[in-house]
Amino acid sequence: MDTTGREAAYPAARPRRLRRGPALRRLVAETRVLPENLVLPLFVKEGIDEPVAISSMPGQFQHTRDSLRRAAHEAAEAGVGGVILFGIPAHKDERGSAADDPHGIVQEALRDLSKDVGDALVVMADLCLCEYTSHGHCGPLEADGHVDNDLTLERYASIAAAQAEAGAAVVAPSGMMDGQVAAIRAGLDRAGFAQVPILAYAAKYASSFYGPFREAAEGAPQFGDRSGYQQDPANAREALREVALDVAEGADMVMVKPGLAYLDIIAKVAEASPVPVSAYQVSGEYAMIEAAAERGWIDRERAILETLTSYRRAGAEQVLTYWATEAARLLR
Ligand code: PBG
Repeated sequence: MDTTGREAAYPAARPRRLRRGPALRRLVAETRVLPENLVLPLFVKEGIDEPVAISSMPGQFQHTRDSLRRAAHEAAEAGVGGVILFGIPAHKDERGSAADDPHGIVQEALRDLSKDVGDALVVMADLCLCEYTSHGHCGPLEADGHVDNDLTLERYASIAAAQAEAGAAVVAPSGMMDGQVAAIRAGLDRAGFAQVPILAYAAKYASSFYGPFREAAEGAPQFGDRSGYQQDPANAREALREVALDVAEGADMVMVKPGLAYLDIIAKVAEASPVPVSAYQVSGEYAMIEAAAERGWIDRERAILETLTSYRRAGAEQVLTYWATEAARLLR
């Protein structure tokens, strides 16, 4: 009997002791999210005078060059680690000619941002063709409608050189073509950009969670889908193979995408990868939390920080998230 009259059957272990109060919890936290872990994806559109709100991604915009500069400044101010740019050209064609035009919208924006904030954060360029092709696929097509892998590699090498020339500090190929990292590395080296790192979207799945992005970047495939080049959600082993290939081809960092539905993949890749691991909290993840929060069904800020913590806990060093600036401020 104890003094309260209860039978003394005390637990030998009391994990609750370390949960008693915020100071203790902070002291023993295993995982931390820092502003510099976060990378903000930004969209810049050619030929608009005002930023255009993206309806499926409340709070996100297709930027003008000016509003993009403001958004990048805010990110830098908040301590965000990097930004990654997606361009939406005024004109699209079969081969995505605007993508490697030295005066294409992303190249102009890269020049702006590398000058403005290039010392404060890492200015990255997403490297793909889906925003630039009239058919919306990630490379030029063969007669049968499949993406022509090797012709696409030539296009990617040329885009990488144009982006590096314009000031990209990192290029990030997201098209999931075989051999893309090797082709881009060779293209960069040939053009005198041996120092520019490649962040490879190595394990990128054919996912429903890219839905809102296709409105944001205006890159929805006009027919078919991307299952012919992006990975099948059923497969984990394949992700490790893609990572190993990309590392062998010269990837300096590798990415898993999406994140929340693929935390197991992030964990496996983090264990196997000899290079830093990034993960992308994609548009559909953003939209789900924003929509539920708007209905009052979920605590928005807690959900944002909880999901970012889960990415870090799974093993991602960098997280690409549309909440980067806001989360960085919350973390301060
Ligand atoms: C295109 C690309 C996509 C995303 C990033 N780069 C879309 C796709 O593959 O269909 C998705 C990002 C997001 O949903 O936030 N290469």
